[in-house]
Amino acid sequence: MKNIVIVTILISLALLGIIFSYVGNIIGDDMVNILSMLAAIIILVITVGVGLKYVNQMKNDKASGQLADENWDGIGEFKNELPIGWAVSFLTTIVWAIWYWFSGYPLWAYSQIGEYNEEVKTYNKKFEEKHANISDDELNNMGQSVFLVNCAPCHGVSADGMDSKAANLTKRLDSISVKHVIMNGSNDGLVGEGIAMPDRNGLININTGNSISDAEISLVVDYITNGFVGSQGAEVFAGVCSACHGTDGTGIPMVAPNIKNFTVDLITAVLQYGKTGAIGKMPSFKTEDMRLTATQQKAVATYIIKLQEGSK
Ligand code: HEC
Ligand code: HEC
Repeated sequence: MKNIVIVTILISLALLGIIFSYVGNIIGDDMVNILSMLAAIIILVITVGVGLKYVNQMKNDKASGQLADENWDGIGEFKNELPIGWAVSFLTTIVWAIWYWFSGYPLWAYSQIGEYNEEVKTYNKKFEEKHANISDDELNNMGQSVFLVNCAPCHGVSADGMDSKAANLTKRLDSISVKHVIMNGSNDGLVGEGIAMPDRNGLININTGNSISDAEISLVVDYITNGFVGSQGAEVFAGVCSACHGTDGTGIPMVAPNIKNFTVDLITAVLQYGKTGAIGKMPSFKTEDMRLTATQQKAVATYIIKLQEGSK
C-alpha cells in the first residue's frame, strides 16, 4: 500500500513537472493559466485518491452476502437483489417496445409518400372521369403529349426507334424482331398473361409435318416484313403461323396477336407488361403502379396507330 502511494505521488509530480515545463513560463502573466493549472492539479489529486481507494478496496475487502451455487473456475456470483432502477428501466423498455410496434411506428401513421400516392390516386380518378367521353381527336392529342414525355426518350421524337435503340413504331415489325421471336418464342403477355408463342422447335408446318426450317424462316420473315407479299412466304405462313395469327396475320383474340398492324389492345398489353425481345427491354407502364392511366394508354396507342397509318 505504501509503495502505491509513493509511486502515485511520484507519477503525479512527474506529470506536474511535464505540464510546468510546457506552460510554466507564462504562469503569472495570466490568471486563466493559473486557474487551469490549479484545476489540473485538483483533478490529478482526485483521480489518484479515487484510484487508491479502489486499489485498497480490492486488496482488503471481505466478501459478504450469500454466494450463488454456480461458480466458474472459482469465480462466483453474489445473490444480489435486482437493482430497482435497473428493473424499472427494463420493464419500461418492454412497454415502450410494445407501444412502438403497435402504434408508435409510423406504419399506420402519416407519411409523405403515402400522402403523395393518395393524391395521385385521387387525381387519376378525376382525370379518368373527366375524360370518360373523350373524342378521337382529343385522344390523339393527349397521346402525342404522353408519347413525347414517356416514350420519345427511347423511341425517338418521330417514333422511329432512334437507330434501333427501341422498336420502330412507325412500322409494325422489322425482320430482326420477327426472326428473334421465331427462334426463341415469346411470352410477354401480348394477348393475355401466360399465353406464349413456342420457339422454332414447336412451330410445325402442317403441310410437311416438320418443325420450321431455316429456309422457311427466311421466307416467312421476308413475307411479314414486306407487308405480307410473296407467294412462297405466304405458303409458309399458311402452313405454320396462320392457325394462331389468323390467315391474314391480324391475330385471334386470346390466341395470338395481330402481327400486321398495331391495335389498341396490343399496345395496351405492351404498356401493362413491358416487352423483352430482339432489341432489348421495354419497361412496363402499369396503371397499378400509377405510371399511365387507362385513358393515357389508349391515347398513346391511338397516336401510334395514327402515326403508322400516316407513314404508309
Ligand atoms: C401456337 C400459336 C402460335 C403460332 C403457331 C405462331 N405464333 Fe406467333 N405468337 C403467338 C403468341 C401467343 C404471341 C404473343 C407472345 C407474347 O405475348 O409475347 C406471338 C407473337 C408473335 C410475334 C411478336 C409480336 C410482337 O408484337 O412482338 C411475332 C413476330 C410472331 N408471333 C410471328 C409468328 C410467325 C412468323 C409464326 C409462324 C412462323 C408464328 N408467329 C406462329 C402464337 C403463335
Ligand atoms: C426505356 C426505353 C423505353 C421506353 C421509355 C419506352 N419503350 Fe417501348 N420499347 C422499348 C424497347 C427496347 C422495345 C423493343 C422490345 C423488343 O425487343 O421487342 C420497345 C417496344 C415497344 C412496343 C412493341 C413494338 C412491337 O412491334 O411489338 C411498343 C408498342 C412500345 N414499345 C410502345 C411504347 C410506348 C407507347 C411508350 C411510352 C409510353 C414506350 N414504348 C416507352 C423501349 C422503351
